[in-house]
Amino acid sequence: MIENRCVVLAQRPQGRPRVSDFKVETRPVPELEDGQLLCKNRFISLDAGFRNWMDEGSGDNVLPAMPLGEPVMGLTLSEVLQSTHADFAKGDILMARFAWEEYTVTNAGDFISPIKDVRYPLNYYLGVLGDTGLSAYFGLTDFGNIQPGDTVLVSAAAGAVGSIAGQIAKIYGARTVGISHGPDKCGRLIRELGYDAAIDRSGADLDQAIAQACPDGIDVYFDNVGGPMLQAVLAHINEEANILLCGSVATYNSTEQVPGPNNLFQLTTKHAHMHGFMTHLNLARYEETRATMAAWITEGRLVIHEHRLQGIDNVGQAFCDLFEGVNFGKTIVEL
Ligand SMILES: NC(=O)c1ccc[n+]([C@@H]2O[C@H](COP(=O)([O-])OP(=O)(O)OC[C@H]3O[C@@H](n4cnc5c(N)ncnc54)[C@H](OP(=O)(O)O)[C@@H]3O)[C@@H](O)[C@H]2O)c1
Repeated sequence: MIENRCVVLAQRPQGRPRVSDFKVETRPVPELEDGQLLCKNRFISLDAGFRNWMDEGSGDNVLPAMPLGEPVMGLTLSEVLQSTHADFAKGDILMARFAWEEYTVTNAGDFISPIKDVRYPLNYYLGVLGDTGLSAYFGLTDFGNIQPGDTVLVSAAAGAVGSIAGQIAKIYGARTVGISHGPDKCGRLIRELGYDAAIDRSGADLDQAIAQACPDGIDVYFDNVGGPMLQAVLAHINEEANILLCGSVATYNSTEQVPGPNNLFQLTTKHAHMHGFMTHLNLARYEETRATMAAWITEGRLVIHEHRLQGIDNVGQAFCDLFEGVNFGKTIVEL
């Protein structure tokens, strides 16, 4: 019998998640039934958005609330060890929505994207070639309408999605401006991710900092953060600007209703556009998009950064780090 170490949701986080909200337990791996797979999870991806489904009644209808006492749902890079399922074979590599655990037994009804041609290190298929990189790509190319010379502003610009979004915008000829916190991360945005300018969100006056860093206004805002930052950015948009609503990490831990931006009339006067999108709904486009992104990696046009921790015991910590802004690049745990 194989023992499975998994991270269960011990209690629902109240506000910002804490390591004590999660508990590592050891459970037996169940016997395989017909039509099932046994997978070894090689890497776990930590995704800020999953914080939403740790609450009861998040109200967004995308996924049900995670049950208490059960392994926490998450994205994994997994290898098939055994299969009684017609569509999968031993040795297949999958990007999947499984759980924070060492092994998963599944009937493959979940969100699964097989990696048909593994040419890059496996961890890339959760980061730049996984949901995070593809979020940057789909948001910018489906809705950004970037023209050479446009100013593209990215929030959480040093993060998993943001670090790739800034680089893709640059490939499309934009002048890129990133928002992060602290002088160290802001310096790295410019030196290591090629941003033309950086804004420190911990500074005193965000409005003034945006005006300074974006003297010609903002044509595209890739929004990972939402909240008051979105309101500050809206004050600086250009005519026909595109606001790409990828995420709202500033509001996921709120225990009270967050007021919306009070300046949406900016969209009217600037005849601008806001676009929300959910990356996983594009599952059928993943393979072809990975090929485009892979070519950019090979050409050296996409640089990859990772915040990597080791072992199942550190998964809870890695998740909490996201909300402290500890990471530079994709947060991942190797099992
Ligand atoms: N639409 C989709 O389908 C989709 C798919 C994947 C991800 N997303 C979204 O993309 C966004 C980025 O997610 P990720 O998992 O890649 O995380 P990440 O960007 O790697 O990490 C989160 C970053 O957000 C910043 N941050 C944390 N708390 C903040 C706050 N209160 N105010 C402002 N900034 C804060 C921190 O960066 P700094 O300290 O450097 O500012 C932190 O490093 C999230 O909103 C996520 O939900 C959406």
